[in-house]
Amino acid sequence: MAYSDKVIDHYEHPRNVGRMDDKSDNVGTGMVGAPACGDVMRLQIQVNDDGLIEDAKFKTYGCGSAIASSSLLTEWVKGKSIDEAEQIKNTAIAEELALPPVKIHCSVLAEDAIKAAVKSIRDKRGQAADDVQEAG
Ligand code: FES
Ligand code: FES
Repeated sequence: MAYSDKVIDHYEHPRNVGRMDDKSDNVGTGMVGAPACGDVMRLQIQVNDDGLIEDAKFKTYGCGSAIASSSLLTEWVKGKSIDEAEQIKNTAIAEELALPPVKIHCSVLAEDAIKAAVKSIRDKRGQAADDVQEAG
């Protein structure tokens, strides 16, 4: 199967590979798996107090399309609010990378990952807000 130039570029030069400290209240972690193939993606976002994503890192154990999808996603979410980031659709990723139909689920993995990462930061902050109320 032929990969598009953009997939190959992200696969050979993945952006923002790495890991953040999930213990931080400013870091949201999304860890998701693709039932179709068993691949796993970890996406982490660092979010400031205004809800803006300042940094993003990923680690993907999967195919070239999954790596490219997560690499592209980290570029797209930086500078976005968490509200905007969770609206990113897998179809936009698949279109940008020109993924063939059998590789669409790889972009779904990326959409699932950003949604999970945003949920994780919301859960943490909801928790933190409750703590403040209890303390007051
Ligand atoms: Fe899992 Fe793509 S099928 S690597
Ligand atoms: Fe399964 Fe790409 S994530 S083939």
